[in-house]
Amino acid sequence: MSEPVISVRGVRKSFEDGRIVALRGMDLEVAEGEFVALVGPSGCGKSTLLHLIAALDRPDEGAIRVAGRALEEANDLSAHRAHEVGLIFQLHNLMPALTASENVQVPMFELGLPGRERRERAHALLAAVGLEGRERNRPPQLSGGERQRVAVARALANEPPILLADEPTGSLDSEAGATVLDLIERLRRERGLTVVLVTHDTGVAARADRIVTMLDGHVVGSSPNDRSAAAPTTRLAASTRVTP
Ligand SMILES: Nc1ncnc2c1ncn2[C@@H]1O[C@H](COP(=O)(O)OP(=O)(O)O)[C@@H](O)[C@H]1O
Ligand SMILES: [Mg+2]
Repeated sequence: MSEPVISVRGVRKSFEDGRIVALRGMDLEVAEGEFVALVGPSGCGKSTLLHLIAALDRPDEGAIRVAGRALEEANDLSAHRAHEVGLIFQLHNLMPALTASENVQVPMFELGLPGRERRERAHALLAAVGLEGRERNRPPQLSGGERQRVAVARALANEPPILLADEPTGSLDSEAGATVLDLIERLRRERGLTVVLVTHDTGVAARADRIVTMLDGHVVGSSPNDRSAAAPTTRLAASTRVTP
């Protein structure tokens, strides 16, 4: 097998001078183009893990490699954030005063693209997420599902090979959530993206290649998701039951 695009080895991360341990002995490998659903009870460390992979924070111990690069050795983490990973959060985190187009352009400033190219790329990205014609709308003028689609476009602004999504459908009704998930799946197929997606929804997890289950800051289960198998929900219930 070629080198995994994401490799997390023996990672430990604590907060508040070690009183809160978010990750303890966390290991994860994700292959290029793979779609991994990350599940587990609230507080088990899922968001912390995504933040470390995105280099928004550093581990206390352990090693993280992304796209062949060891993050602890990288001296330009902002380049990593700009080029390698796109992040989507549960709440879209768009800037309310900026238009949809301007929100999508924010990550492009790191690349120093000229304004015209930024606008053209934002236009194409918004079209790809089904929001052509909404470029000038600001977040308060968009529905929850539309805002989350802008967030997907923003995450892909710099064409990163990896998409990290933290409960991207968690704040949406089921129809809007399904639209956002369809979109992520389509973009993944078209662009060969590697996707790590945190979810509480077994129906969402069932669409991944693999379901990784976390508990208390580490992995307790990893099962390939054979979507051709019958009754996936039954299998899911057995393999990924999440304690309430
Ligand atoms: N910045 C932080 N400061 C203090 N504690 C934090 C911080 N971020 C996360 N935690 C704690 O770390 C643990 C794991 O959190 P998190 O990764 O957000 O879990 P999950 O996303 O699985 O719900 C929780 O106990 C949480 O309260
Ligand atoms: Mg979380």
